[in-house]
Amino acid sequence: MSVQAPQAATRILLEQQEMPRRWYNIQADLPFPGSPPIHPATKQPIGPADLAPLFPMELIKQEVSQERYIDIPDPVQDALRLWRPTPLMRATRLEKALKTSAKIYYKYEGGSPPGSHKPNTAVAQAFYNKAAGTKRLTTETGAGQWGSALAFATKLFELECMVYMVRISFEQKPYRKSMMHVWGADVVPSPSDRTEAGRRIRAEDPQSTGSLGIAISEAVEDAAKREDTKYSLGSVLNHVLMHQTIIGEEALLQMERANAMPDLVVGCVGGGSNFSGLAFPFLRDRLQGRTKTRFLAVEPDACPTITRGKYTYDFGDTGEMTPLVKMHTLGHRFIPDGIHAGGLRYHGMSPLVSHVYELGLIEAVAKTQRECFAAGVQFARAEGIVPAPEATHAVRCAIDEALRCKKEGKAEVILFNMSGHGHFDMAAYDSYFAGNLADVALDEDEMERALKSIEGLPTPA
Ligand SMILES: Cc1ncc(COP(=O)(O)O)c(C=O)c1O
Repeated sequence: MSVQAPQAATRILLEQQEMPRRWYNIQADLPFPGSPPIHPATKQPIGPADLAPLFPMELIKQEVSQERYIDIPDPVQDALRLWRPTPLMRATRLEKALKTSAKIYYKYEGGSPPGSHKPNTAVAQAFYNKAAGTKRLTTETGAGQWGSALAFATKLFELECMVYMVRISFEQKPYRKSMMHVWGADVVPSPSDRTEAGRRIRAEDPQSTGSLGIAISEAVEDAAKREDTKYSLGSVLNHVLMHQTIIGEEALLQMERANAMPDLVVGCVGGGSNFSGLAFPFLRDRLQGRTKTRFLAVEPDACPTITRGKYTYDFGDTGEMTPLVKMHTLGHRFIPDGIHAGGLRYHGMSPLVSHVYELGLIEAVAKTQRECFAAGVQFARAEGIVPAPEATHAVRCAIDEALRCKKEGKAEVILFNMSGHGHFDMAAYDSYFAGNLADVALDEDEMERALKSIEGLPTPA
């Protein structure tokens, strides 16, 4: 009888008690701070009082905090332990299929109740709102992943939840709406006729497919009008990115245990939260001179915010209700094509991700939806998990980089974020197999038209 050599572990797990107990705030470690959000009327940096109608004070404090670590409150830890720590996986079957010398690891966030990384911040936001006496939260959702996450989290902390869901996703993914209903949320397609912003857009374009920018305007307007209601955002803001760093803190421990530190960390970017959540704890090590890890943010060709947008002050929403923030943007009136990665259809980028990109600490690339679905199918056939359309962008780049390693004869370690599963996206996979998916890259004229909405916007006084 021959004795086989031990196989490399493919599931690297942490015990429940090993779940990190604090979030990492990268603002403490950057060489200089990003540009502050400004009030469009005064051109002065906004203060806590400007944000107080929308967010509870604890989250406002986290937004501007320069503390390196913030403790995760016990009730939030309890809720996170419903599905955390999440597994780190070594994709040995994919490596074999690609015949690559690279080692591919991924952090799997699709095992949370709503199916993505989004509840990592949803439970924290619901907790701080409950503690501050909020009764009701409003939000937008693109893919439906964030809306589901907030519906779930508000149920845990006994809050009401109102979700404005981008109309095209509402139509593409009816069961996301059903899931939100199971958790007790109210969901309407956006633009809706419940808000002035929605009615205005519908009057201009009755066929509007909606966008995250429009849905944000509706959710903000709804919250601003009611005393008992606050607003919750699923990405973009500093505190949201910080809540997601639990992903990277876990992954650091797991990679150490696998005895493999990443040469490259990859994540898809919509507003930037799952990418930052995985990347920032590894970036801390690079900022402290301990590693030379590269970081790669992947966005859709149809909404190429970092790679083709402008780095400037813009509104976070279409209806011009938010403060002006400095970020990579395609213009707040830009309505991305109806690609299936609904969570990546945002005209802007997190100011923090934009800032680290400008500092030269991360790279960015844009991919078409067909090449991403091809990578998603290849991944599913090797590893089993069917990725969310958003996550296929990360898979695409992980595969491309593994093939580069093969060509160059390198054994680099690649780590990517599998930010969610695609179980509600099977119609998109059907369209891919039927050859009905279009690759719509943004042409220069459309870009210029979109960027016109930023011309003449105030910059800091
Ligand atoms: C599965 C999944 N991945 C990624 C994203 C993109 O968001 P972010 O860039 O904030 O991670 C979304 C957004 O809805 C999502 O649902």
